[in-house]
Amino acid sequence: MVALLVLCCASVVAGAAIQQRDPVPAGYVAAPYYPAPHGGWTADWSESYRKASALVSNMTLAEKTNLTAGTGIFMGRCVGNSGSALRVGIPQLCLQDGPLGVRNTDHNTAFPAGITAGATWDKDQLYRRGVAIGEEFRGKGINVHLGPSVGPLGRKPRGGRNWEGFGSDPVLQAFGGLLSIEGIQSTGVIATLKHLIANEQEQYRMYNIIKPGISSNVDDRTLHELYLWPFAEGVRSGVGSIMIGYNAVNGSACSQNSYLMNGILKDELGFQGFVMSDWLAQISGVASALAGLDMSMPGDRHDVPLVFGTSYWMYEYTRSVLNGSIPVDRLNDATTRILAAYFKMGQDQDYPRPNFDANTQDAVGPLYPAALFSPEGVVNEFVDVQADHAVIAREVARDAITLLKNEDDLLPLTSSASLKIFGTDAEKNPDGINSCADQGCNKGTLGMGWGSGSARYPYLNSPIDGLKDRSANYQFFNTDSFPSNSNPSPNDTAIVFVTADSGENYITVEGNPGDRTSSGLNLWHNGDRLIRDVAAKYANVVVVVHTVGPILMEEWHDLPSVKAVLFAHLPGQEAGDSLMQVLFGDVSPSGHLPYTLPKSEDDYPDSVGLRGYQIGQPQDTFTEGLYIDYKHFNKANITPRYAFGHGLSYTTFSFSDATIVAVTPLTATPPTRPAKGETPTYSTAIPPASEAYWPENFDRIWRYLYSFLEKDEADAAAEIGSSTAEYPYPEGYSNVQKPGPPAGGAQGGNPALFETAFDVTVTVTNTGSRAGKAVAQLYVQFPSESTVDTPIIQLRDFEKTSTLEAGASQTLKLRVTRKDLSIWDVVAQNWVIPVVDGDYGIWVGGASDNLHLRCGTATSSCAGDQTSPV
Ligand code: NOJ
Repeated sequence: MVALLVLCCASVVAGAAIQQRDPVPAGYVAAPYYPAPHGGWTADWSESYRKASALVSNMTLAEKTNLTAGTGIFMGRCVGNSGSALRVGIPQLCLQDGPLGVRNTDHNTAFPAGITAGATWDKDQLYRRGVAIGEEFRGKGINVHLGPSVGPLGRKPRGGRNWEGFGSDPVLQAFGGLLSIEGIQSTGVIATLKHLIANEQEQYRMYNIIKPGISSNVDDRTLHELYLWPFAEGVRSGVGSIMIGYNAVNGSACSQNSYLMNGILKDELGFQGFVMSDWLAQISGVASALAGLDMSMPGDRHDVPLVFGTSYWMYEYTRSVLNGSIPVDRLNDATTRILAAYFKMGQDQDYPRPNFDANTQDAVGPLYPAALFSPEGVVNEFVDVQADHAVIAREVARDAITLLKNEDDLLPLTSSASLKIFGTDAEKNPDGINSCADQGCNKGTLGMGWGSGSARYPYLNSPIDGLKDRSANYQFFNTDSFPSNSNPSPNDTAIVFVTADSGENYITVEGNPGDRTSSGLNLWHNGDRLIRDVAAKYANVVVVVHTVGPILMEEWHDLPSVKAVLFAHLPGQEAGDSLMQVLFGDVSPSGHLPYTLPKSEDDYPDSVGLRGYQIGQPQDTFTEGLYIDYKHFNKANITPRYAFGHGLSYTTFSFSDATIVAVTPLTATPPTRPAKGETPTYSTAIPPASEAYWPENFDRIWRYLYSFLEKDEADAAAEIGSSTAEYPYPEGYSNVQKPGPPAGGAQGGNPALFETAFDVTVTVTNTGSRAGKAVAQLYVQFPSESTVDTPIIQLRDFEKTSTLEAGASQTLKLRVTRKDLSIWDVVAQNWVIPVVDGDYGIWVGGASDNLHLRCGTATSSCAGDQTSPV
């Protein structure tokens, strides 16, 4: 492990710290925002804050700083392990990846990825998947789940980690995030919404001593209306923790960006939980604390070889409080926030301790793998946390399957169909389903992308396993080149399995360093060629795609024999049977695209391409503003291959009899926000140096990060603290708490923003001959009188029906909030409805390009048979 630590630091040469910010293009600002707002002022957190503050007022300086950082990378069982405060009953907190299940363990479920869950457009399934994930984290003794991911938002089609989130639209992403959070936290696990913010590509994401991380330059309106939207909803649902991104925003590293953490997150969104750094994203001690960071993970410095075990915080935080550079008030707030989240989830009541070890699969091993000498002990107890979670995993994988094309009703297949199966993706990786660490390879069935967002498979039910279980009549050619011996017959149906993969930057797969640099949006392993070759010999071809995101299909999509195309996304362990249920028609497919499929990569604006090497800090300027994915295609009048939200079924649906009812009368700006409530108060006096001294006879472990100081160091720091010396605080620094901006007032922002402006209902009828589920998608079109440049349509809500038998109907309820009708006014710094009496078009239908029902807000009436706005 020590060798690994040296290795992973080889690129980090000791030298000058990054002191100066690189300039960013004019107009992109991260204004100073101080101080860090205290938490505890919303009613729903007051009891947890009461408990937390009772404890904090009784804790020593070193106990408090010990909770705000990890004990070092690979210095505990989990990917992140905070220090403890055992004297007051607080254990180390275990933080563990990832969004689709417990990473690096056993007897867990490998759930369908976020993008797959997003493709279901099913709120109930999103929630139930969250509950099941939460149960597994709790069962393994994990306090903090490092998910869900809602950033990246999918601005860049080649971005490596889009698949961890739910789709390239802020509202779809927001529902995915908030329902996951509600599910996870219902089990007592603290969820972590990540990565704040605009973390849209993998390459150049991190700061190192040679190069600053990429700067995402985002204007204020775009930030609010796109990238912040899912975070606001997550905060509104009470998320306990937020992970700050590696990248910079407008030139300021997210991990010390006071505008983001203090201003936007804690004041405007009223976030009550704690902010943690991404792993080694922290690049300063005092500055990051003042800017609002509450927890440093995994605790180590990013700019010193990890083997030495040094920290910006822990002992340095202790020193900084003693010498007066970080006000004790800031430390008290950070500690209170962490403990408030702990109490809010009830983790003081019989919460299990970790019973697994992410570093080894052995039962017994070193307790601190990165220490030179570590005590050994039982580290893996192999606790089975799967319960019946395979059921929801399979349901989500199945209901995400998106049927894009189905000519001549080739699907569903009959049970006696003669099948010829092509492509290595149809069967498990012959080297073993977990043979590549963190799934860092694309071999065999692609059930998830790679990186920290992956999990080990307990088993993988492959498509071939699914066919075997059905006793289907099939022949499988386990190759990605067209075989000469397949003996095509006119009665055959050929099914071709193809993939496109991506992941996190620390692993490069087939030339792709996380982002899809070398593969582009093309299928991997000559998938296009394989499909064309199969299509040349077989008259009936089904293409099944396992993919992380958009791909190009033009080489084969229109070939006459390619009659059916299905996106099965990233199904996780239940890849096979979930697909069989759709292919053989047990259920009708009901997934819808969570992103647009282009005809060419040139269809996208240049600004959403990956940023390559640049001298100095890579600059990534979001010049396309609000116009990503379908909003761009619509504005530029480009017909995609398939529009956002598209998805066919084996049956057909009509949307009719819509109603719209005004609920809350609108005003141009929302009513004045409620004032902040009380927050805990503590002494602001610098604590005595003795609170930092090493306890006597303490048995130290080399490389472990502790919060204590030697007596002489603590005394020296305290002497500075009692002098008149002034720390050179950043520009704009103040230590006076603010009342908060007008757009704030509760978790997520001014509560009036979330009031229902209009209730909408629509009747969905199954007009075909088979059972199926439909999704009603609601898009808002701003009134024509509005002079504010706004996308033609924007998704604002959706609902899925239950299974409707042929001829059956269901009435779905959707809603439009005040925020849904507002724009972020950069001058007023508030959400503003541009034309209060204007006639907003509320469009409802089955896809973004298939909206034929329009309700008008001015007339409070709805009409069918309208021409779709795009
Ligand atoms: C870095 C990733 O960006 C983050 O998502 C993950 O949770 C941490 N590593 C911990 O593995």
